[in-house]
Amino acid sequence: MELSQRAKRLAPSATLAVTAKAKELKAQGKPVIAFGAGEPDFDSPNSAVEAAYAAIKAGHTHYTVSNGIPELRKAVCEYYERQIGLKYDPAEVVIDSGAKPLLYEVLACLINPGDEVIVPTPAWVSYVEQIHLCDGVTVEFDTTKTDYIPDPKQLEKVITPKTKCIMLNTPNNPTGAVYDVATLKAIAALAVKHKIAILYDEIYERMIYGDAKHENIVSLYPEARDFTILINGVSKAFAMTGWRIGYALGPKEFMKVLNDLKGHINTNATSIAQYAATGALQGAEADVQIMVKAFASRRELITKLLQAMPHITVFEPKGAFYAWFNVEKTFGKSWEGKKITSDSDFCALLLEAKYIGAVPGSAFMGPGNVRLSYACSEEDITQGMKRLHEFLDELK
Ligand SMILES: Cc1ncc(COP(=O)(O)O)c(C=O)c1O
Repeated sequence: MELSQRAKRLAPSATLAVTAKAKELKAQGKPVIAFGAGEPDFDSPNSAVEAAYAAIKAGHTHYTVSNGIPELRKAVCEYYERQIGLKYDPAEVVIDSGAKPLLYEVLACLINPGDEVIVPTPAWVSYVEQIHLCDGVTVEFDTTKTDYIPDPKQLEKVITPKTKCIMLNTPNNPTGAVYDVATLKAIAALAVKHKIAILYDEIYERMIYGDAKHENIVSLYPEARDFTILINGVSKAFAMTGWRIGYALGPKEFMKVLNDLKGHINTNATSIAQYAATGALQGAEADVQIMVKAFASRRELITKLLQAMPHITVFEPKGAFYAWFNVEKTFGKSWEGKKITSDSDFCALLLEAKYIGAVPGSAFMGPGNVRLSYACSEEDITQGMKRLHEFLDELK
C-alpha cells in the first residue's frame, strides 16, 4: 500500500516510545523507574467518578451534540470566569476528546498548504507533527538563550506574509518555563498587528509554583481575543488523562467552523467522560489543590537533587511537572566503554545502566537536554535521582 506524503513525514512520539521501552524492561522484571510520561499519578477526583456513574445510570450513553453537552460548556465558562477572570459564552466553547485533537483541528481550520506556524522551541512533541499533517511549515523559534521565554523583538523578525499562527504553551512542556506579563502582552500586540492567530495552550495552568503566576494572554491583552484560541482540558489539572476531555475557547464564528470540522471526525467526545469532566470542574477544586501541593514539593525535591549532580546544568522549573537539564558536558564521556554523543545516547544508556526512563530533549527540538516528568512519588524521585547521580559519577 502506498502511503501518503503526509503519513510518510510523521515521526513517532518519542515520549510514547520511551514509555513503551521502559514498560518492556519492567515486564522483564527490571527495577525500572519511569520519568517519561506526562501524566499525573493521582486518581481522578471523586466528583468526576460520581458524575460518570450517574451519567451511565441515567442513560447518557448516546451521541451528544458535537460541540459538547451544554452542562460542560457552561461549567468550562464558569471555571474560566472563576479561575482566570475571563468571560466566555458557552457558544464560544468546543469540547473534544482531549486538548491534543483540538490543537490539530484548530490548525486544520487555520492553515493552507505552505502557511507558516511559529513554534517557540523547545516545544511539545505533537505541535510540529500536527502542523505538518496540515501541510503547514513550522518556523522554529529557539528560546534556549532567553531562559525559554520568547523574546518578542526577535520573534517579530521571523514573521513573514505567510505566517498564519503562533503556538504558545505556558506553563511549558518540556521546560517548565512560565511566560511573564510583558512578554505575553508584547506577543499579543504582534499578533494583532500582523493579524496572526494565537493558539494558547494553557493545559498546565494549575501547575504553578513558588512566586510564579500563570497569565492568560486574552486577559492581559483583550484586543487579541478575536485572534486567540485558548486550549485547555481536564487531563493535567484534574488527573483525568484517560477520560480524554479537552476544551477550546475562541471567537464564536471560528468555533462554529471548528465544530463543523470536528463533527466530521469524531462526532462528539465520549458522553460519559463529558459528564465526568463537568463533575470535576464543578466539584474538584480541593483535589486540584492537594495535587498541586504535592507537585510543588516534588519539584523542590527533584530540583535540589539535580542541582547537586555533576556534568549537568539544571533549569529551575516554574510550572508544569517537568525537570529539564542540559547534558552537553557529558558528550564525549563513556559509561562502561559506551560513548555518549547526544541526548538520545544519554537517555538510552541511562535506561540500560540504571533503569531510569527519561526523554531526550531532541524530541522537543531541544537537543542537548533531557526531560524528566516528576509526576511520580517522592520515593521514586529520591531513588531515581540517586541512580542518575551514580550514573553521572560513573562517567569517564
Ligand atoms: C503542552 C501540551 N498540550 C496538550 C497536551 C494534550 O493533553 P490532552 O490529554 O488533553 O490531549 C499535552 C499532553 O501531554 C501537553 O503536554
